[in-house]
Amino acid sequence: MRLYGKVAVATGACGGIGKCIIKKLITEGARVVAVDLSQRHLDKLQAEYGDELITMTVDVTQYDQVAAAIDKAIDHYGQVDIVINNAGIGAPKALLEHDPIKDFDVITAVNQKGVYHGILAAGRAMKARGHGGVIINTSSVYGAMASELTFTYNVSKAAVDMMTKCAALEFGPHKIRVCAVAPGRVDTPMLHQYKSLGLWDHIQREQMRSEFTQPDEIANVIAFLASDEASCINGTTVYAADGFENFKYPLLPG
Ligand SMILES: NC(=O)c1ccc[n+]([C@@H]2O[C@H](COP(=O)([O-])OP(=O)(O)OC[C@H]3O[C@@H](n4cnc5c(N)ncnc54)[C@H](O)[C@@H]3O)[C@@H](O)[C@H]2O)c1
Repeated sequence: MRLYGKVAVATGACGGIGKCIIKKLITEGARVVAVDLSQRHLDKLQAEYGDELITMTVDVTQYDQVAAAIDKAIDHYGQVDIVINNAGIGAPKALLEHDPIKDFDVITAVNQKGVYHGILAAGRAMKARGHGGVIINTSSVYGAMASELTFTYNVSKAAVDMMTKCAALEFGPHKIRVCAVAPGRVDTPMLHQYKSLGLWDHIQREQMRSEFTQPDEIANVIAFLASDEASCINGTTVYAADGFENFKYPLLPG
């Protein structure tokens, strides 16, 4: 029960990684506000966990909605200690085929501005309460690596890494830690887009374990970062990517 007595808000709560985050937070004793776009999916979470969480439909591209979710945690539970900015989208597409009117803006609005909104709203609420807190942003190995078909996604995750550093610096005096976790390839609906592109087997072979990371493995890292055990980890991105960021696709068989 590493998070007993804490109150956490998590976005993207109905996605592959998000559902595991919610489960892990509750297992570790936190009270939770689960946030996502779809009320229908949130209702399923509510049915599964009952009184152990409350839910709120929020579009993270809208600052007021993100701030309202944090206010809801404070209204309902009296505090907010952990905010996990996990919502994100990806849409693999060759750069030369981009529609410059929308392709950059749509991903940036969720992955970059959405995280910015979460950092800002959480920082303000935690500072006002005066008890510190932890903000965790879901980045990606692609925040530091180039890859084909994911130009805007990588740019947005690089921004998440930098926002994590800058916010940690500004929030440090208020005892608010800001960290990011960078998964590699996690078996969730987001990654399943690669099936329709015919790349699924290829990207699986690229993994060190020859299998994708499971979403509960990412949730475990996030719960650790949210806990007091991670008190000296701040302003940094923690890679949870099976070493994907360090190694080239192994060419030797076996
Ligand atoms: N799956 C991977 O391989 C992988 C790798 C690295 C990083 N990530 C990151 O992990 C995070 C979670 O991704 P996932 O794999 O669980 O994907 P997912 O598609 O399963 O879940 C994403 C969730 O975010 C929600 N969401 C999307 N736009 C939103 C908005 N505007 N407001 C509120 N919620 C919104 C969706 O409804 C969905 O529930 C993302 O930030 C993603 O970039 C995923």
